[in-house]
Amino acid sequence: MKRFAVLPGLVGLVLVSLALVAAPTAAQPARPTPSVPNVGDETCLACHDTPGLQITLPSGEPLYLTVDRVIYKTSTHGRLGYACVQCHTDIGEFPHPPLQVTSRREFTLKLYRSCARCHEDKYEATLDSVHQAALAAGHPEAAVCTDCHGAHNIGPPDKPRSRISRTCRRCHSQIYDLYEKSVHGAALIDEGNPDVPSCTDCHGVHSVEGPSTSPFRLFSPQICARCHADPKLMGRYGISTDVFDTYVADFHGTTVILFEAIAPDQETNKPVCIDCHGVHDIQTTDDPESRVIKENLLATCRKCHPDATANFPTAWLSHYRPSPEHAPLVYFVNLFYEILIPTVIGAMVIFNATDIYRRVVCRLRERRHG
Ligand code: HEC
Ligand code: HEC
Ligand code: HEC
Ligand code: HEC
Ligand code: HEC
Ligand code: HEC
Ligand code: HEC
Ligand code: HEC
Ligand code: HEC
Repeated sequence: MKRFAVLPGLVGLVLVSLALVAAPTAAQPARPTPSVPNVGDETCLACHDTPGLQITLPSGEPLYLTVDRVIYKTSTHGRLGYACVQCHTDIGEFPHPPLQVTSRREFTLKLYRSCARCHEDKYEATLDSVHQAALAAGHPEAAVCTDCHGAHNIGPPDKPRSRISRTCRRCHSQIYDLYEKSVHGAALIDEGNPDVPSCTDCHGVHSVEGPSTSPFRLFSPQICARCHADPKLMGRYGISTDVFDTYVADFHGTTVILFEAIAPDQETNKPVCIDCHGVHDIQTTDDPESRVIKENLLATCRKCHPDATANFPTAWLSHYRPSPEHAPLVYFVNLFYEILIPTVIGAMVIFNATDIYRRVVCRLRERRHG
């Protein structure tokens, strides 16, 4: 079972020091809890900073026990002056209480819960996430706090911002590889552009929702709208914000918005932005890989309009407001009405007004004279 790789002399030495130097923690924690043992981190590091410490777990996997002093002291918690026992609340003395786990993963799943002591809000948020649901459904590899943040080397998780997507890459590498080459991902990873979405802008961080559900699909245009309906943001890239207005006005979009309002759980075949543009592999509209470039557009429409012929997409206004270049017929018909209707109504108003005036004035004259 457990195999000590510690020199007995070292153990003896530190046993003494544990008894003698149960020193108060260097700096008092922000939220002191009576149950935390009163042991400073130097006491623990006296043994655990030793390279090569390890035991073998019942599963046969090694559990490495070395904690690098410098890495810990420069981590966010180390810099706050937190003692080891702020997280390892059950370890106050040596020998430690028996370790009741059989595998490396079980060890992680037991220890990560210590984060909840101080980050209750984050912990609560994760309880409803897809990752917790996957854990409960028997996927022990789903992400918990320490998978994304580490334990002894914790630092700002969003600096630089591209670090966020790399966190997810560890387990979602196929999606990351697509994203990295997309218009959004390339701008973030290659240029550090702060305006494009990282994984968590679309999925959330601690409360990641299941994206394969009907409500998420219907809601997804609102995610795009956060940026693509913002004229100031899009102005910087010369990208039209009409895409959202025209989509909502479009028969496709109108139906989706209606569905979302009335029956969010209902399956729908109406297209949302991602059906035409893709999700993790969105490209600029002039990229040869783009699903909406002319050469690929018909294939995109055919996912739902299997009988569409080559000129099918041209019958559609796309995201354009009608103009003399795009859909001139619709444009001129609209223009015709825009001119005709005010003119006709205006003429009628004037005609009626003069008519009423004439009648009233004539009546009055008739009375006075009659
Ligand atoms: C005298 C040396 C020594 C000291 C001091 C010591 N440890 Fe350990 N630690 C070990 C050894 C040996 C193991 C291997 C397994 C065991 O005995 O539990 C271990 C295992 C661990 C483990 C992993 C397995 C388990 O038992 O939970 C953690 C976590 C741990 N120590 C934390 C600490 C903390 C926190 C302190 C300070 C309060 C500390 N240790 C002080 C020697 C030491
Ligand atoms: C912010 C909370 C936190 C602090 C502070 C902390 N630990 Fe840990 N420690 C953890 C968690 C969580 C794990 C489990 C990590 C995993 O699953 O890989 C762990 C694991 C360990 C292990 C097992 C080996 C390993 O690295 O996984 C040892 C030994 C250990 N800690 C000792 C220490 C010592 C010594 C200190 C102080 C210098 C310390 N810890 C400070 C949370 C903490
Ligand atoms: C004893 C209280 C305490 C415990 C336990 C604790 N933290 Fe923290 N943590 C803090 C405080 C205080 C800060 C700094 C203020 C803040 O960002 O909330 C912090 C900051 C962080 C940050 C932001 C780091 C940065 O530099 O921006 C992360 C990420 C984090 N903790 C993760 C964890 C994880 C994961 C665990 C469990 C392994 C954990 N914490 C356990 C108190 C704690
Ligand atoms: C799936 C990965 C993932 C998991 C699981 C996860 N986090 Fe985070 N966390 C992140 C990312 C990424 C960020 C920063 C990016 C952002 O805010 O969009 C972050 C931010 C944080 C911050 C700093 C936020 C702030 O407001 O400054 C803390 C503290 C934190 N997490 C603690 C935790 C704790 C505690 C857990 C477990 C209950 C946890 N996280 C689980 C990925 C994760
Ligand atoms: C430690 C591994 C790990 C990390 C890190 C991780 N995930 Fe996951 N994630 C999983 C596992 C396992 C599942 C459940 C199985 C599956 O559907 O792939 C999952 C599921 C998901 C799902 C739902 C998939 C579906 O089909 O319903 C989303 C969305 C997701 N993760 C997003 C993220 C994001 C965003 C990050 C980074 C902030 C992240 N994950 C980090 C392991 C991880
Ligand atoms: C622009 C918004 C956006 C960004 C950025 C984004 N996603 Fe997604 N993601 C979505 C949408 C929308 C879906 C649902 C797709 C569907 O219904 O076909 C999804 C689906 C998923 C799924 C589950 C379905 C699948 O394809 O396996 C996972 C896992 C996932 N995303 C992880 C990630 C990770 C990891 C990143 C970062 C590398 C990321 N996403 C970046 C919007 C986004
Ligand atoms: C966080 C803000 C943000 C979100 C959310 C977002 N985008 Fe973007 N998007 C951008 C920015 C900024 C660019 C320009 C990037 C560049 O050119 O470097 C862009 C570029 C694009 C382009 C390329 C336009 C062109 O031809 O130049 C398309 C298509 C696109 N996004 C579609 C979408 C879709 C679909 C969604 C929703 C699933 C979405 N975006 C979500 C910010 C966002
Ligand atoms: C039915 C398919 C379809 C749907 C649904 C769709 N688009 Fe498009 N989108 C296109 C096509 C086709 C183009 C290319 C137009 C052109 O350049 O001729 C385009 C172009 C764009 C552009 C580039 C505009 C520019 O100024 O370069 C953006 C950004 C965009 N779409 C975002 C979105 C968003 C956001 C949604 C959802 C609200 C959406 N699209 C829904 C097919 C679609
Ligand atoms: C995700 C499936 C999907 C995709 C992709 C899609 N459509 Fe549609 N489309 C529909 C549905 C469903 C309707 C019926 C709308 C309704 O009932 O509200 C429709 C209706 C239409 C109509 C109205 C006339 C008719 O046939 O009913 C046109 C025109 C149209 N789509 C053009 C396009 C073009 C052009 C593309 C490709 C750029 C495209 N669609 C892509 C699902 C889709």
